[in-house]
Amino acid sequence: MRVVLLCLLNFLIGSDGFTDTKKRKFPENFLFGAATSAYQVEGGWDADDKGKSIWDTFLHDHPEKIVDGRNGDVGPDSYHNWRRDVEMLRELGVDFYRFSISWPRVLPTGFENKINEKGFKYYDDLIDELLKYSIQPMVTLYHFDLPQELQDLGGWTNPLSVTWFEEYARIVFKRYADKVKYWITINQPNTICIDGYGSEAMAPGINAMDSGAYECVKNVLLAHAKAYDLYQKEFKKKFEGNVGISIAVNWYDPINNSTENAEAVEKARAFQLGLYLDPIYSKDGDFPVLVRQIVDKKSKEQGYSASRLPKLSPQEIKLLKGSVDFLGMNHYTTFLVKPSQQEYQSPSFEDDVGVEYSQGEQWKPAKSVWLKSAPYGLYKACIYLNLNYDYPNIIITEHGWSSGPGLRDNSRVDNMRGYFGALLLAMEDATQVKGYTAWSLMDNVEWTAGTSERFGLYEVDFESENKTRKARLSALVYKNIIETREVDLEWKPKNLKIHISKNDKKNNYKAEL
Ligand SMILES: *[C@@H]1O[C@H](CO)[C@@H](O)[C@H](O)[C@H]1NC(C)=O
Ligand SMILES: *[C@@H]1O[C@H](CO)[C@@H](O)[C@H](O)[C@H]1NC(C)=O
Ligand SMILES: *[C@@H]1O[C@H](CO)[C@@H](O)[C@H](O)[C@H]1NC(C)=O
Repeated sequence: MRVVLLCLLNFLIGSDGFTDTKKRKFPENFLFGAATSAYQVEGGWDADDKGKSIWDTFLHDHPEKIVDGRNGDVGPDSYHNWRRDVEMLRELGVDFYRFSISWPRVLPTGFENKINEKGFKYYDDLIDELLKYSIQPMVTLYHFDLPQELQDLGGWTNPLSVTWFEEYARIVFKRYADKVKYWITINQPNTICIDGYGSEAMAPGINAMDSGAYECVKNVLLAHAKAYDLYQKEFKKKFEGNVGISIAVNWYDPINNSTENAEAVEKARAFQLGLYLDPIYSKDGDFPVLVRQIVDKKSKEQGYSASRLPKLSPQEIKLLKGSVDFLGMNHYTTFLVKPSQQEYQSPSFEDDVGVEYSQGEQWKPAKSVWLKSAPYGLYKACIYLNLNYDYPNIIITEHGWSSGPGLRDNSRVDNMRGYFGALLLAMEDATQVKGYTAWSLMDNVEWTAGTSERFGLYEVDFESENKTRKARLSALVYKNIIETREVDLEWKPKNLKIHISKNDKKNNYKAEL
């Protein structure tokens, strides 16, 4: 504990201009990867009998919601360009590729009784191509694209969704357990539930703040836990894979040190982090006590006889506790918190939390309005996880930066280097981070931002026939960091040409989880 605090102090002093010249290196067995998700890169939205997902429906019904009008119908068209995608991964020299399987591509209705072999063939080919070059597949089972037929039955607010997901997971585990050793059940429950069911921002855009969003949280978490349990019982012994969940762990700091802000930040952390982490990692399991107290009290005031936050039964609490081999940490930025000055619509998630967010004025802004560069926040988030959840095994499953088009993406390079510095320091202070995943391998369809915000290490020319990909400066910098295991702030490539390294047979390390 003392060591941790001393180092934190060091880091803060360092960031104030005193130079900390110590060279830090990523260990040899640290895994580097890059990520995408199905809806954002695949295209082929109705190819080969794929079923409709809620994102197909949402953006077809509401083209006005997309900033530049470009939805995921075609996108980077990885459904046809997957060989090039694997070539890019070889150019980068990564150890693994995180991608997601589109549930309606393989089970068009969502249900287990109708398997689409043509859809599965796409993933067969992709996985085999990765393995041919010793790049490990890291598979996300669910990255926001629910089969529309399941949404018509209430989607994630229907308690049956837990079983639907479990059956889907079993089919995918069965097919790929011998080839895939890293599994992520679900990506970002907060986005699925709070943004998808509690607002109109993300599909399905239900705006069900009465209880839909919290019902969704419960069901999504249970679906994860059931899939984890299933893997333990039916696959773990033979295949020895690792199963985790990816949670948005951005950092929340008080805007200043006044008492009211201390209380506000405690609420922000409970609702943004604890709601998902406590049921899995806390000693007693269940949702955070603070969230329970606030939502129970408000529900009563709002005239409900039961709390809008559903209860977890003792069996459900037990099932959820410890249901991960690693925490997938998605980290992008930091928010500064104070009590809300405005009245939010009631009932709503915002009203329950009751805080306002801002970001440091001096922090460098990305293209996305919510994204600013504050590397110290990654360090603090890691230490928070360590102290509150007892040094969990972590794989950073997303971290990245948005820019406009163009290959000379200096702002992405600066952001990446800054955060790697913070990450190395967090690791020196005993954070159990085993791997890092850059979001994203290539420009893709950023949900309702369309292609107006570019997250790629590779630029995609969306106007070109074959959605041509070109390495950005950041791709070359990332490749150099992977090769040297260290962050050299002075390093520059001679030009923007990237090649597959001569020895691109990976060492095939396994993360020690
Ligand atoms: C809060 O207090 C800490 C320690 O006393 C100090 O380092 C930090 O700068 C303060 N933060 C703000 C925003 O004033
Ligand atoms: C601290 O933040 C509060 C808002 O929560 C603000 O009213 C107050 O002026 C701030 N104090 C200082 C010293 O900046
Ligand atoms: C696109 O790909 C197809 C198939 O590989 C190829 O025949 C065609 O020439 C390519 N088009 C361009 C403009 O590169």
